[in-house]
Amino acid sequence: MSVLSGKKILLGITAGIAAYKTATLVRLFIKSGAEVQVIMTPASKDFITPLTLSTLSKNPVHSTFYSKEEENELWNNHVELGLWADLMLIAPATANTLSKMSSGTCDNLLIATYLSAKCPVYFAPAMDLDMYAHPSTITSLDKLQLFGNKMIPATSGELASGLVGEGRMAEPQDIMSFIENDILSTLPLKGKKVLVTAGPTYEAIDPVRFIGNHSSGKMGFEIAKAAANLGAEVFLITGPSEEKENNTLIKRINVVTAEEMYKACHHYFHEVAIAVLSAAVADYKPKKVATEKIKKKDTTLEIELAPTKDILASLGAIKQQQYLVGFALETNNEIVNALSKLESKNLDAIILNSLKDKGAGFATDTNKVTFIDHEQHQVHFELKSKTAVAIDIMNEILNKIDA
Ligand code: CTP
Repeated sequence: MSVLSGKKILLGITAGIAAYKTATLVRLFIKSGAEVQVIMTPASKDFITPLTLSTLSKNPVHSTFYSKEEENELWNNHVELGLWADLMLIAPATANTLSKMSSGTCDNLLIATYLSAKCPVYFAPAMDLDMYAHPSTITSLDKLQLFGNKMIPATSGELASGLVGEGRMAEPQDIMSFIENDILSTLPLKGKKVLVTAGPTYEAIDPVRFIGNHSSGKMGFEIAKAAANLGAEVFLITGPSEEKENNTLIKRINVVTAEEMYKACHHYFHEVAIAVLSAAVADYKPKKVATEKIKKKDTTLEIELAPTKDILASLGAIKQQQYLVGFALETNNEIVNALSKLESKNLDAIILNSLKDKGAGFATDTNKVTFIDHEQHQVHFELKSKTAVAIDIMNEILNKIDA
């Protein structure tokens, strides 16, 4: 999943030949899960049609303050458009538009919206090489960057004039990567690694049977996604789970048994800044695994169980700079039990969910948790979707590691 997923992007198109490439740009944005609205300068319609862009963006295209042809014309509110956007991109940005943006010459809807926008603004210049090198263009580019706008530099290559040089608009994929990387660089966990465990473990009894539990893995997957959305590189070590993830920052490591999860956790732990262990690890495993399927008999069957390794406690014993967070699923004496786990496993924080709370725990899409830190400071959260709970948990951790 791209960091652009769910972002509202306002694309301003001006009258350069590179405008034809904005069809691809809109498609890429939509594919990445962003919402797109397009504003065109009137002259840019000579290079690409509003119909193409409205079809691809799935939104009406705006180009004038109001439509003279329409009987019931509506004022296109540039302030609203500017406030709607999470980011604005002007591509291609011609010398003319760059000059107007830098001087505040507000003679079309695009410039009015640009002047009203409170979000980050990116621009991708496109023009002939001599225009790009002209001192007036360079002055516009410098001024715009001084105002805080972000330039996606033009590249070198063959230009519409037939000349070869600098002035080609960056390719759509490169424009998108530029914006993604820029957003990523501002995220609080950029450059940090996070380990998350999720799901159940299965402990084999014989080749066809196992001891397991009802954990879906959803809570852990949501924590992994929340961490990735904050810019972290995530190692998601998961037992058997139907859950899916598609964020390029998440590396999924599939395991089956507690022993495999233990090994995977110890493999990655030394690299990470944060570890959140939400897996419902089996506490016991059959002492001996039958090599052949156990046949049914009329007598009772006893399976001797041996304890599995406590992964969380083992990480607590070796932790250095890592912020280590465990989960406690309790049915009684919740706070006391959670605090005792926090202490005995040498954790920085523990997330308590009580099975007494309706909608909390394993097989639901919701959870109700209390975040308890090492100083025993408690933050109680309401019943929420596991997606929202994961965001709360990651924000609490962020507060702690920033403090
Ligand atoms: N955990 C673990 N390895 C285990 C068992 C549990 O890493 N073998 C982790 C879980 O991922 C969770 C925390 O320990 O973060 C607490 O698990 P829980 O089952 O509530 O606690 P236990 O220590 O197993 O104690 P009990 O089952 O007796 O409450």
